Amino acid sequence: MHYAEYLKLDQILNAQKLESENQGNPAHDEMLFIIIHQAYELWFKQILFELESIRTIFEKDIVDDQHLGLIVSRIQRINKILKLLVDQVAIIETMTPSAFLEFRDLLNPASGFQSLQFRKLESILGLKKEQRSTVEKKFFNTRLKKHEQVELDKELLKKSLKELIDEWLGRLNLLEFDNFSFWKEFKNTTDQIFESDKNLIKKNSTLDETEKERELLNLSKVKDSFNVLFNDEEYKKQNFTISRQSLLSALFITTYQDYPLMHLPFKIISGFLEMDEFITKWRYAHALMAKRILGQRIGTGGSSGHEYLRKTAERHVLFADFFKLNTFLIPKSQRPELPQKLSDLLSYHFAVKNHGL
Ligand code: HEM
Repeated sequence: MHYAEYLKLDQILNAQKLESENQGNPAHDEMLFIIIHQAYELWFKQILFELESIRTIFEKDIVDDQHLGLIVSRIQRINKILKLLVDQVAIIETMTPSAFLEFRDLLNPASGFQSLQFRKLESILGLKKEQRSTVEKKFFNTRLKKHEQVELDKELLKKSLKELIDEWLGRLNLLEFDNFSFWKEFKNTTDQIFESDKNLIKKNSTLDETEKERELLNLSKVKDSFNVLFNDEEYKKQNFTISRQSLLSALFITTYQDYPLMHLPFKIISGFLEMDEFITKWRYAHALMAKRILGQRIGTGGSSGHEYLRKTAERHVLFADFFKLNTFLIPKSQRPELPQKLSDLLSYHFAVKNHGL
């Protein structure tokens, strides 16, 4: 095997055909423009490859515990790549708006809207057609080729990672154990915390009566927000996208993350949160870069440009429920104590003997 043959370098390194050169007026920065897009598409391919393998594990009726470490290490790999993709925006930003103008019109109507891999990435993670705004619905697949639209439709019919994680968390069965009911204990604990906070406000001599009333009102609002956890009707009124059972499982995992058996599930939850953060950072960085380079100009795909891109960054936080989870965290010192049997089940038990070595 030869290096260049194995890596198909003759194909890859001959895949930068400058349209400006083709038209007899070479624009220096078009090389960078092509290479950076190709680099992004290659990394999208790797991310999709990793996500697909994670999906295969989650698709099983029983997610094998021995695969959890593998899932975590793949999530971590994806997040390292995503960080690179965010940082890479700085490279395209070295291109000035006027350098871009030298070849921009030659690209019409090609656009990022035609990145099938980006759409697949959104889809495998869990972005559904119906979550898109009216403007997005107009653009998200109509700029793709017919066979790409068919491929994307097929992808959209598959279960996304978000749905599979919701199912996995819902099945975890951590909340009831013998006579121990996590959410009942959790409610008792939070009721006690709120009661003690209430007394602290009432006794606070630095606050006048109006300030006390305001603080008490705020506290009762926070307490009400906790009710969504304990009541199906309240839960349904909020815009949660995973089941209440799954949210409570995620809360259990987060609350007892230091128990060895909860460690990997916690890393999975926080890994997807981090993934969401990187994608949102990329969306914002890309939107800002488009603003800087295009100003008020519309995109070559026909959108309003920066404004459109900024809105997608705001709208599409896929694991928003996991972000909300942190609202309900309580200090470790006050968390409900687990029954000994359950605590043992969630811990490793190595019989360590001192042989006097
Ligand atoms: C000069 C640099 C760039 C500019 C000015 C720019 C501008 C834009 C604009 C205005 C859009 C909205 C669609 C449209 O109306 O055409 C868009 C979409 C998009 N661009 Fe870029 N872009 C640039 C570089 C990149 C790079 C390097 C990538 C990497 C793959 C990329 C990926 C995308 C993707 C995936 C979309 C679709 C986003 C969505 O619908 O949420 N763009 N871009």
